[in-house]
Amino acid sequence: MEINAHSLSTRHVLGIKYLKPEDLRLIIKTAAHFKEVINRPIKKVPSLRDITIANLFFENSTRTRISFELAEKRLSADVINFSASSSSVSKGESLLDTVRNILSMKVDMVVMRHPLQGAPVFLANKISANIVNAGDGTHEHPTQALLDLYSMEESIGDITGRNIAIVGDIRHSRVALSNIFCLKKLGANVRLCGPPTLIPKNIETLGVEVSHNLRETLEWADVANVLRIQLERQNISYFPSLREYSLYFGIDKKLLDSLDSEVVIMHPGPINRGVELSSDVADSQQSIILDQVENGVAVRMAILYLLASKN
Ligand code: NCD
Repeated sequence: MEINAHSLSTRHVLGIKYLKPEDLRLIIKTAAHFKEVINRPIKKVPSLRDITIANLFFENSTRTRISFELAEKRLSADVINFSASSSSVSKGESLLDTVRNILSMKVDMVVMRHPLQGAPVFLANKISANIVNAGDGTHEHPTQALLDLYSMEESIGDITGRNIAIVGDIRHSRVALSNIFCLKKLGANVRLCGPPTLIPKNIETLGVEVSHNLRETLEWADVANVLRIQLERQNISYFPSLREYSLYFGIDKKLLDSLDSEVVIMHPGPINRGVELSSDVADSQQSIILDQVENGVAVRMAILYLLASKN
């Protein structure tokens, strides 16, 4: 494959926080190549032949797990899948023991989702395999931010100096934090919008603006990345009811059609239809939600390929 750029500055993709702007650009450029590959009649390339990748999912996932597996298979890697619910984790085995056992079977790379913040960083200090963070608690979800970046730029061009809104449950979302780091590193203007209880105090120190007015935010934005209300992470009540949340922060067609400009709608999935987005918005021409899913495979192929070529 002909990608003449330099290599990534790190051996792992643990978070956008640890990547340089040049790394982000290299991943996006490489992903564009792989997007062309996966649209060919023969979608498979031999780039990762003889590389074994373990997908370790200690937390539920549909899209991300399938997307990684597909990316690995399109690159001809050997793949093993592990999910915590059907493993010895439920018998009390530690994270390190589980992973060391898997690695002793000669695994080269680990893709990991874990409910605890920092789990991939912890592992990266203990084992030699390359690690890709597929989501750690409420911390980071770097591959989602990169596929979001790819999809935004496919839709509106270079995001430098453009206005990007992130709407919804910022407090509990790893997608929000990774998106903020990614967009700010590349020079976009970022505004967060949601109820005050779902926006962490002092988040402005990351260089973002905060608004509690959805209409004004959407008038300002070129793109709105709309996030799911993470009820499973909320142990207290952050707003009176889903109905009230939806009234103030849900996006429906009537609201979109009443705006002066056309904003691109994104969502990482899974969508709570009728809460953060109405169905007619999720399925509208303005939504690029399914493009995000398609681009996820190309972006993950790019990351795995670039990590493997560093070894
Ligand atoms: C996100 C996640 O798991 O953090 N989903 C995803 O990876 N596609 C967002 C979410 O769960 O709302």
